[in-house]
Amino acid sequence: MMRAMPISLENPMLAAVVDDLATHGWSQQALFLPADLVRALAAECRRRDAEGELNPAGIGRGDAQAVRESIRGDQIQWIDPGQDEACDRYLAAMDQLRLAINQGLFLGLEDFECHFALYPPGAFYRRHLDRFRDDDRRMVSAVLYLNEDWQPEHGGQLRMFLANDVNHDVEPVAGCLAVFLSGEVPHEVLPARRERLSLTGWFRRRGTELF
Ligand code: OGA
Ligand code: MN
Repeated sequence: MMRAMPISLENPMLAAVVDDLATHGWSQQALFLPADLVRALAAECRRRDAEGELNPAGIGRGDAQAVRESIRGDQIQWIDPGQDEACDRYLAAMDQLRLAINQGLFLGLEDFECHFALYPPGAFYRRHLDRFRDDDRRMVSAVLYLNEDWQPEHGGQLRMFLANDVNHDVEPVAGCLAVFLSGEVPHEVLPARRERLSLTGWFRRRGTELF
């Protein structure tokens, strides 16, 4: 049988993300992963927090890295393959998304880096872009939210600043995935009134210093 499309774009949700990115530079998918997997990821994030494995997030890279609670107040831990079954299933899903984006947008995304993030009540992340001055490899940002029973009054929305002074807010509800172009969509995390969990990651292209 002939395939009409490459395999990744046959998944309607992945195709929708690619289409949204191409037309608007961002996408939001309410039920990106099955509820049982999202629950297992939330439990793994809480387990790591209880074991003291999460650390205050910094800003910038290398020597420029500094922890500044006035800019961002989340606690993070980077994820590696082979640590946990749920995390590996998440990484496999994100790799499918990476392939779909490459097939549809020709971005040449080579890898994906990601971390758990926990915002304690009151924490926020001021308006920023996900690109560093000294490192432009991050092309596409993807945030998966892990919060069951999240209500608008809990705050913690991801606010994206789009063209023509339009803002779009994403509620950090369990299973929802927000995706946007890292260097083009300024965004912030509004103060959360309850603990807010997520998995935040970046699809990267090859660094220019390698050419
Ligand atoms: C980030 C970020 C958004 C969110 O970690 O760079 O912008 O909704 N996160 O958690
Ligand atoms: Mn960001």
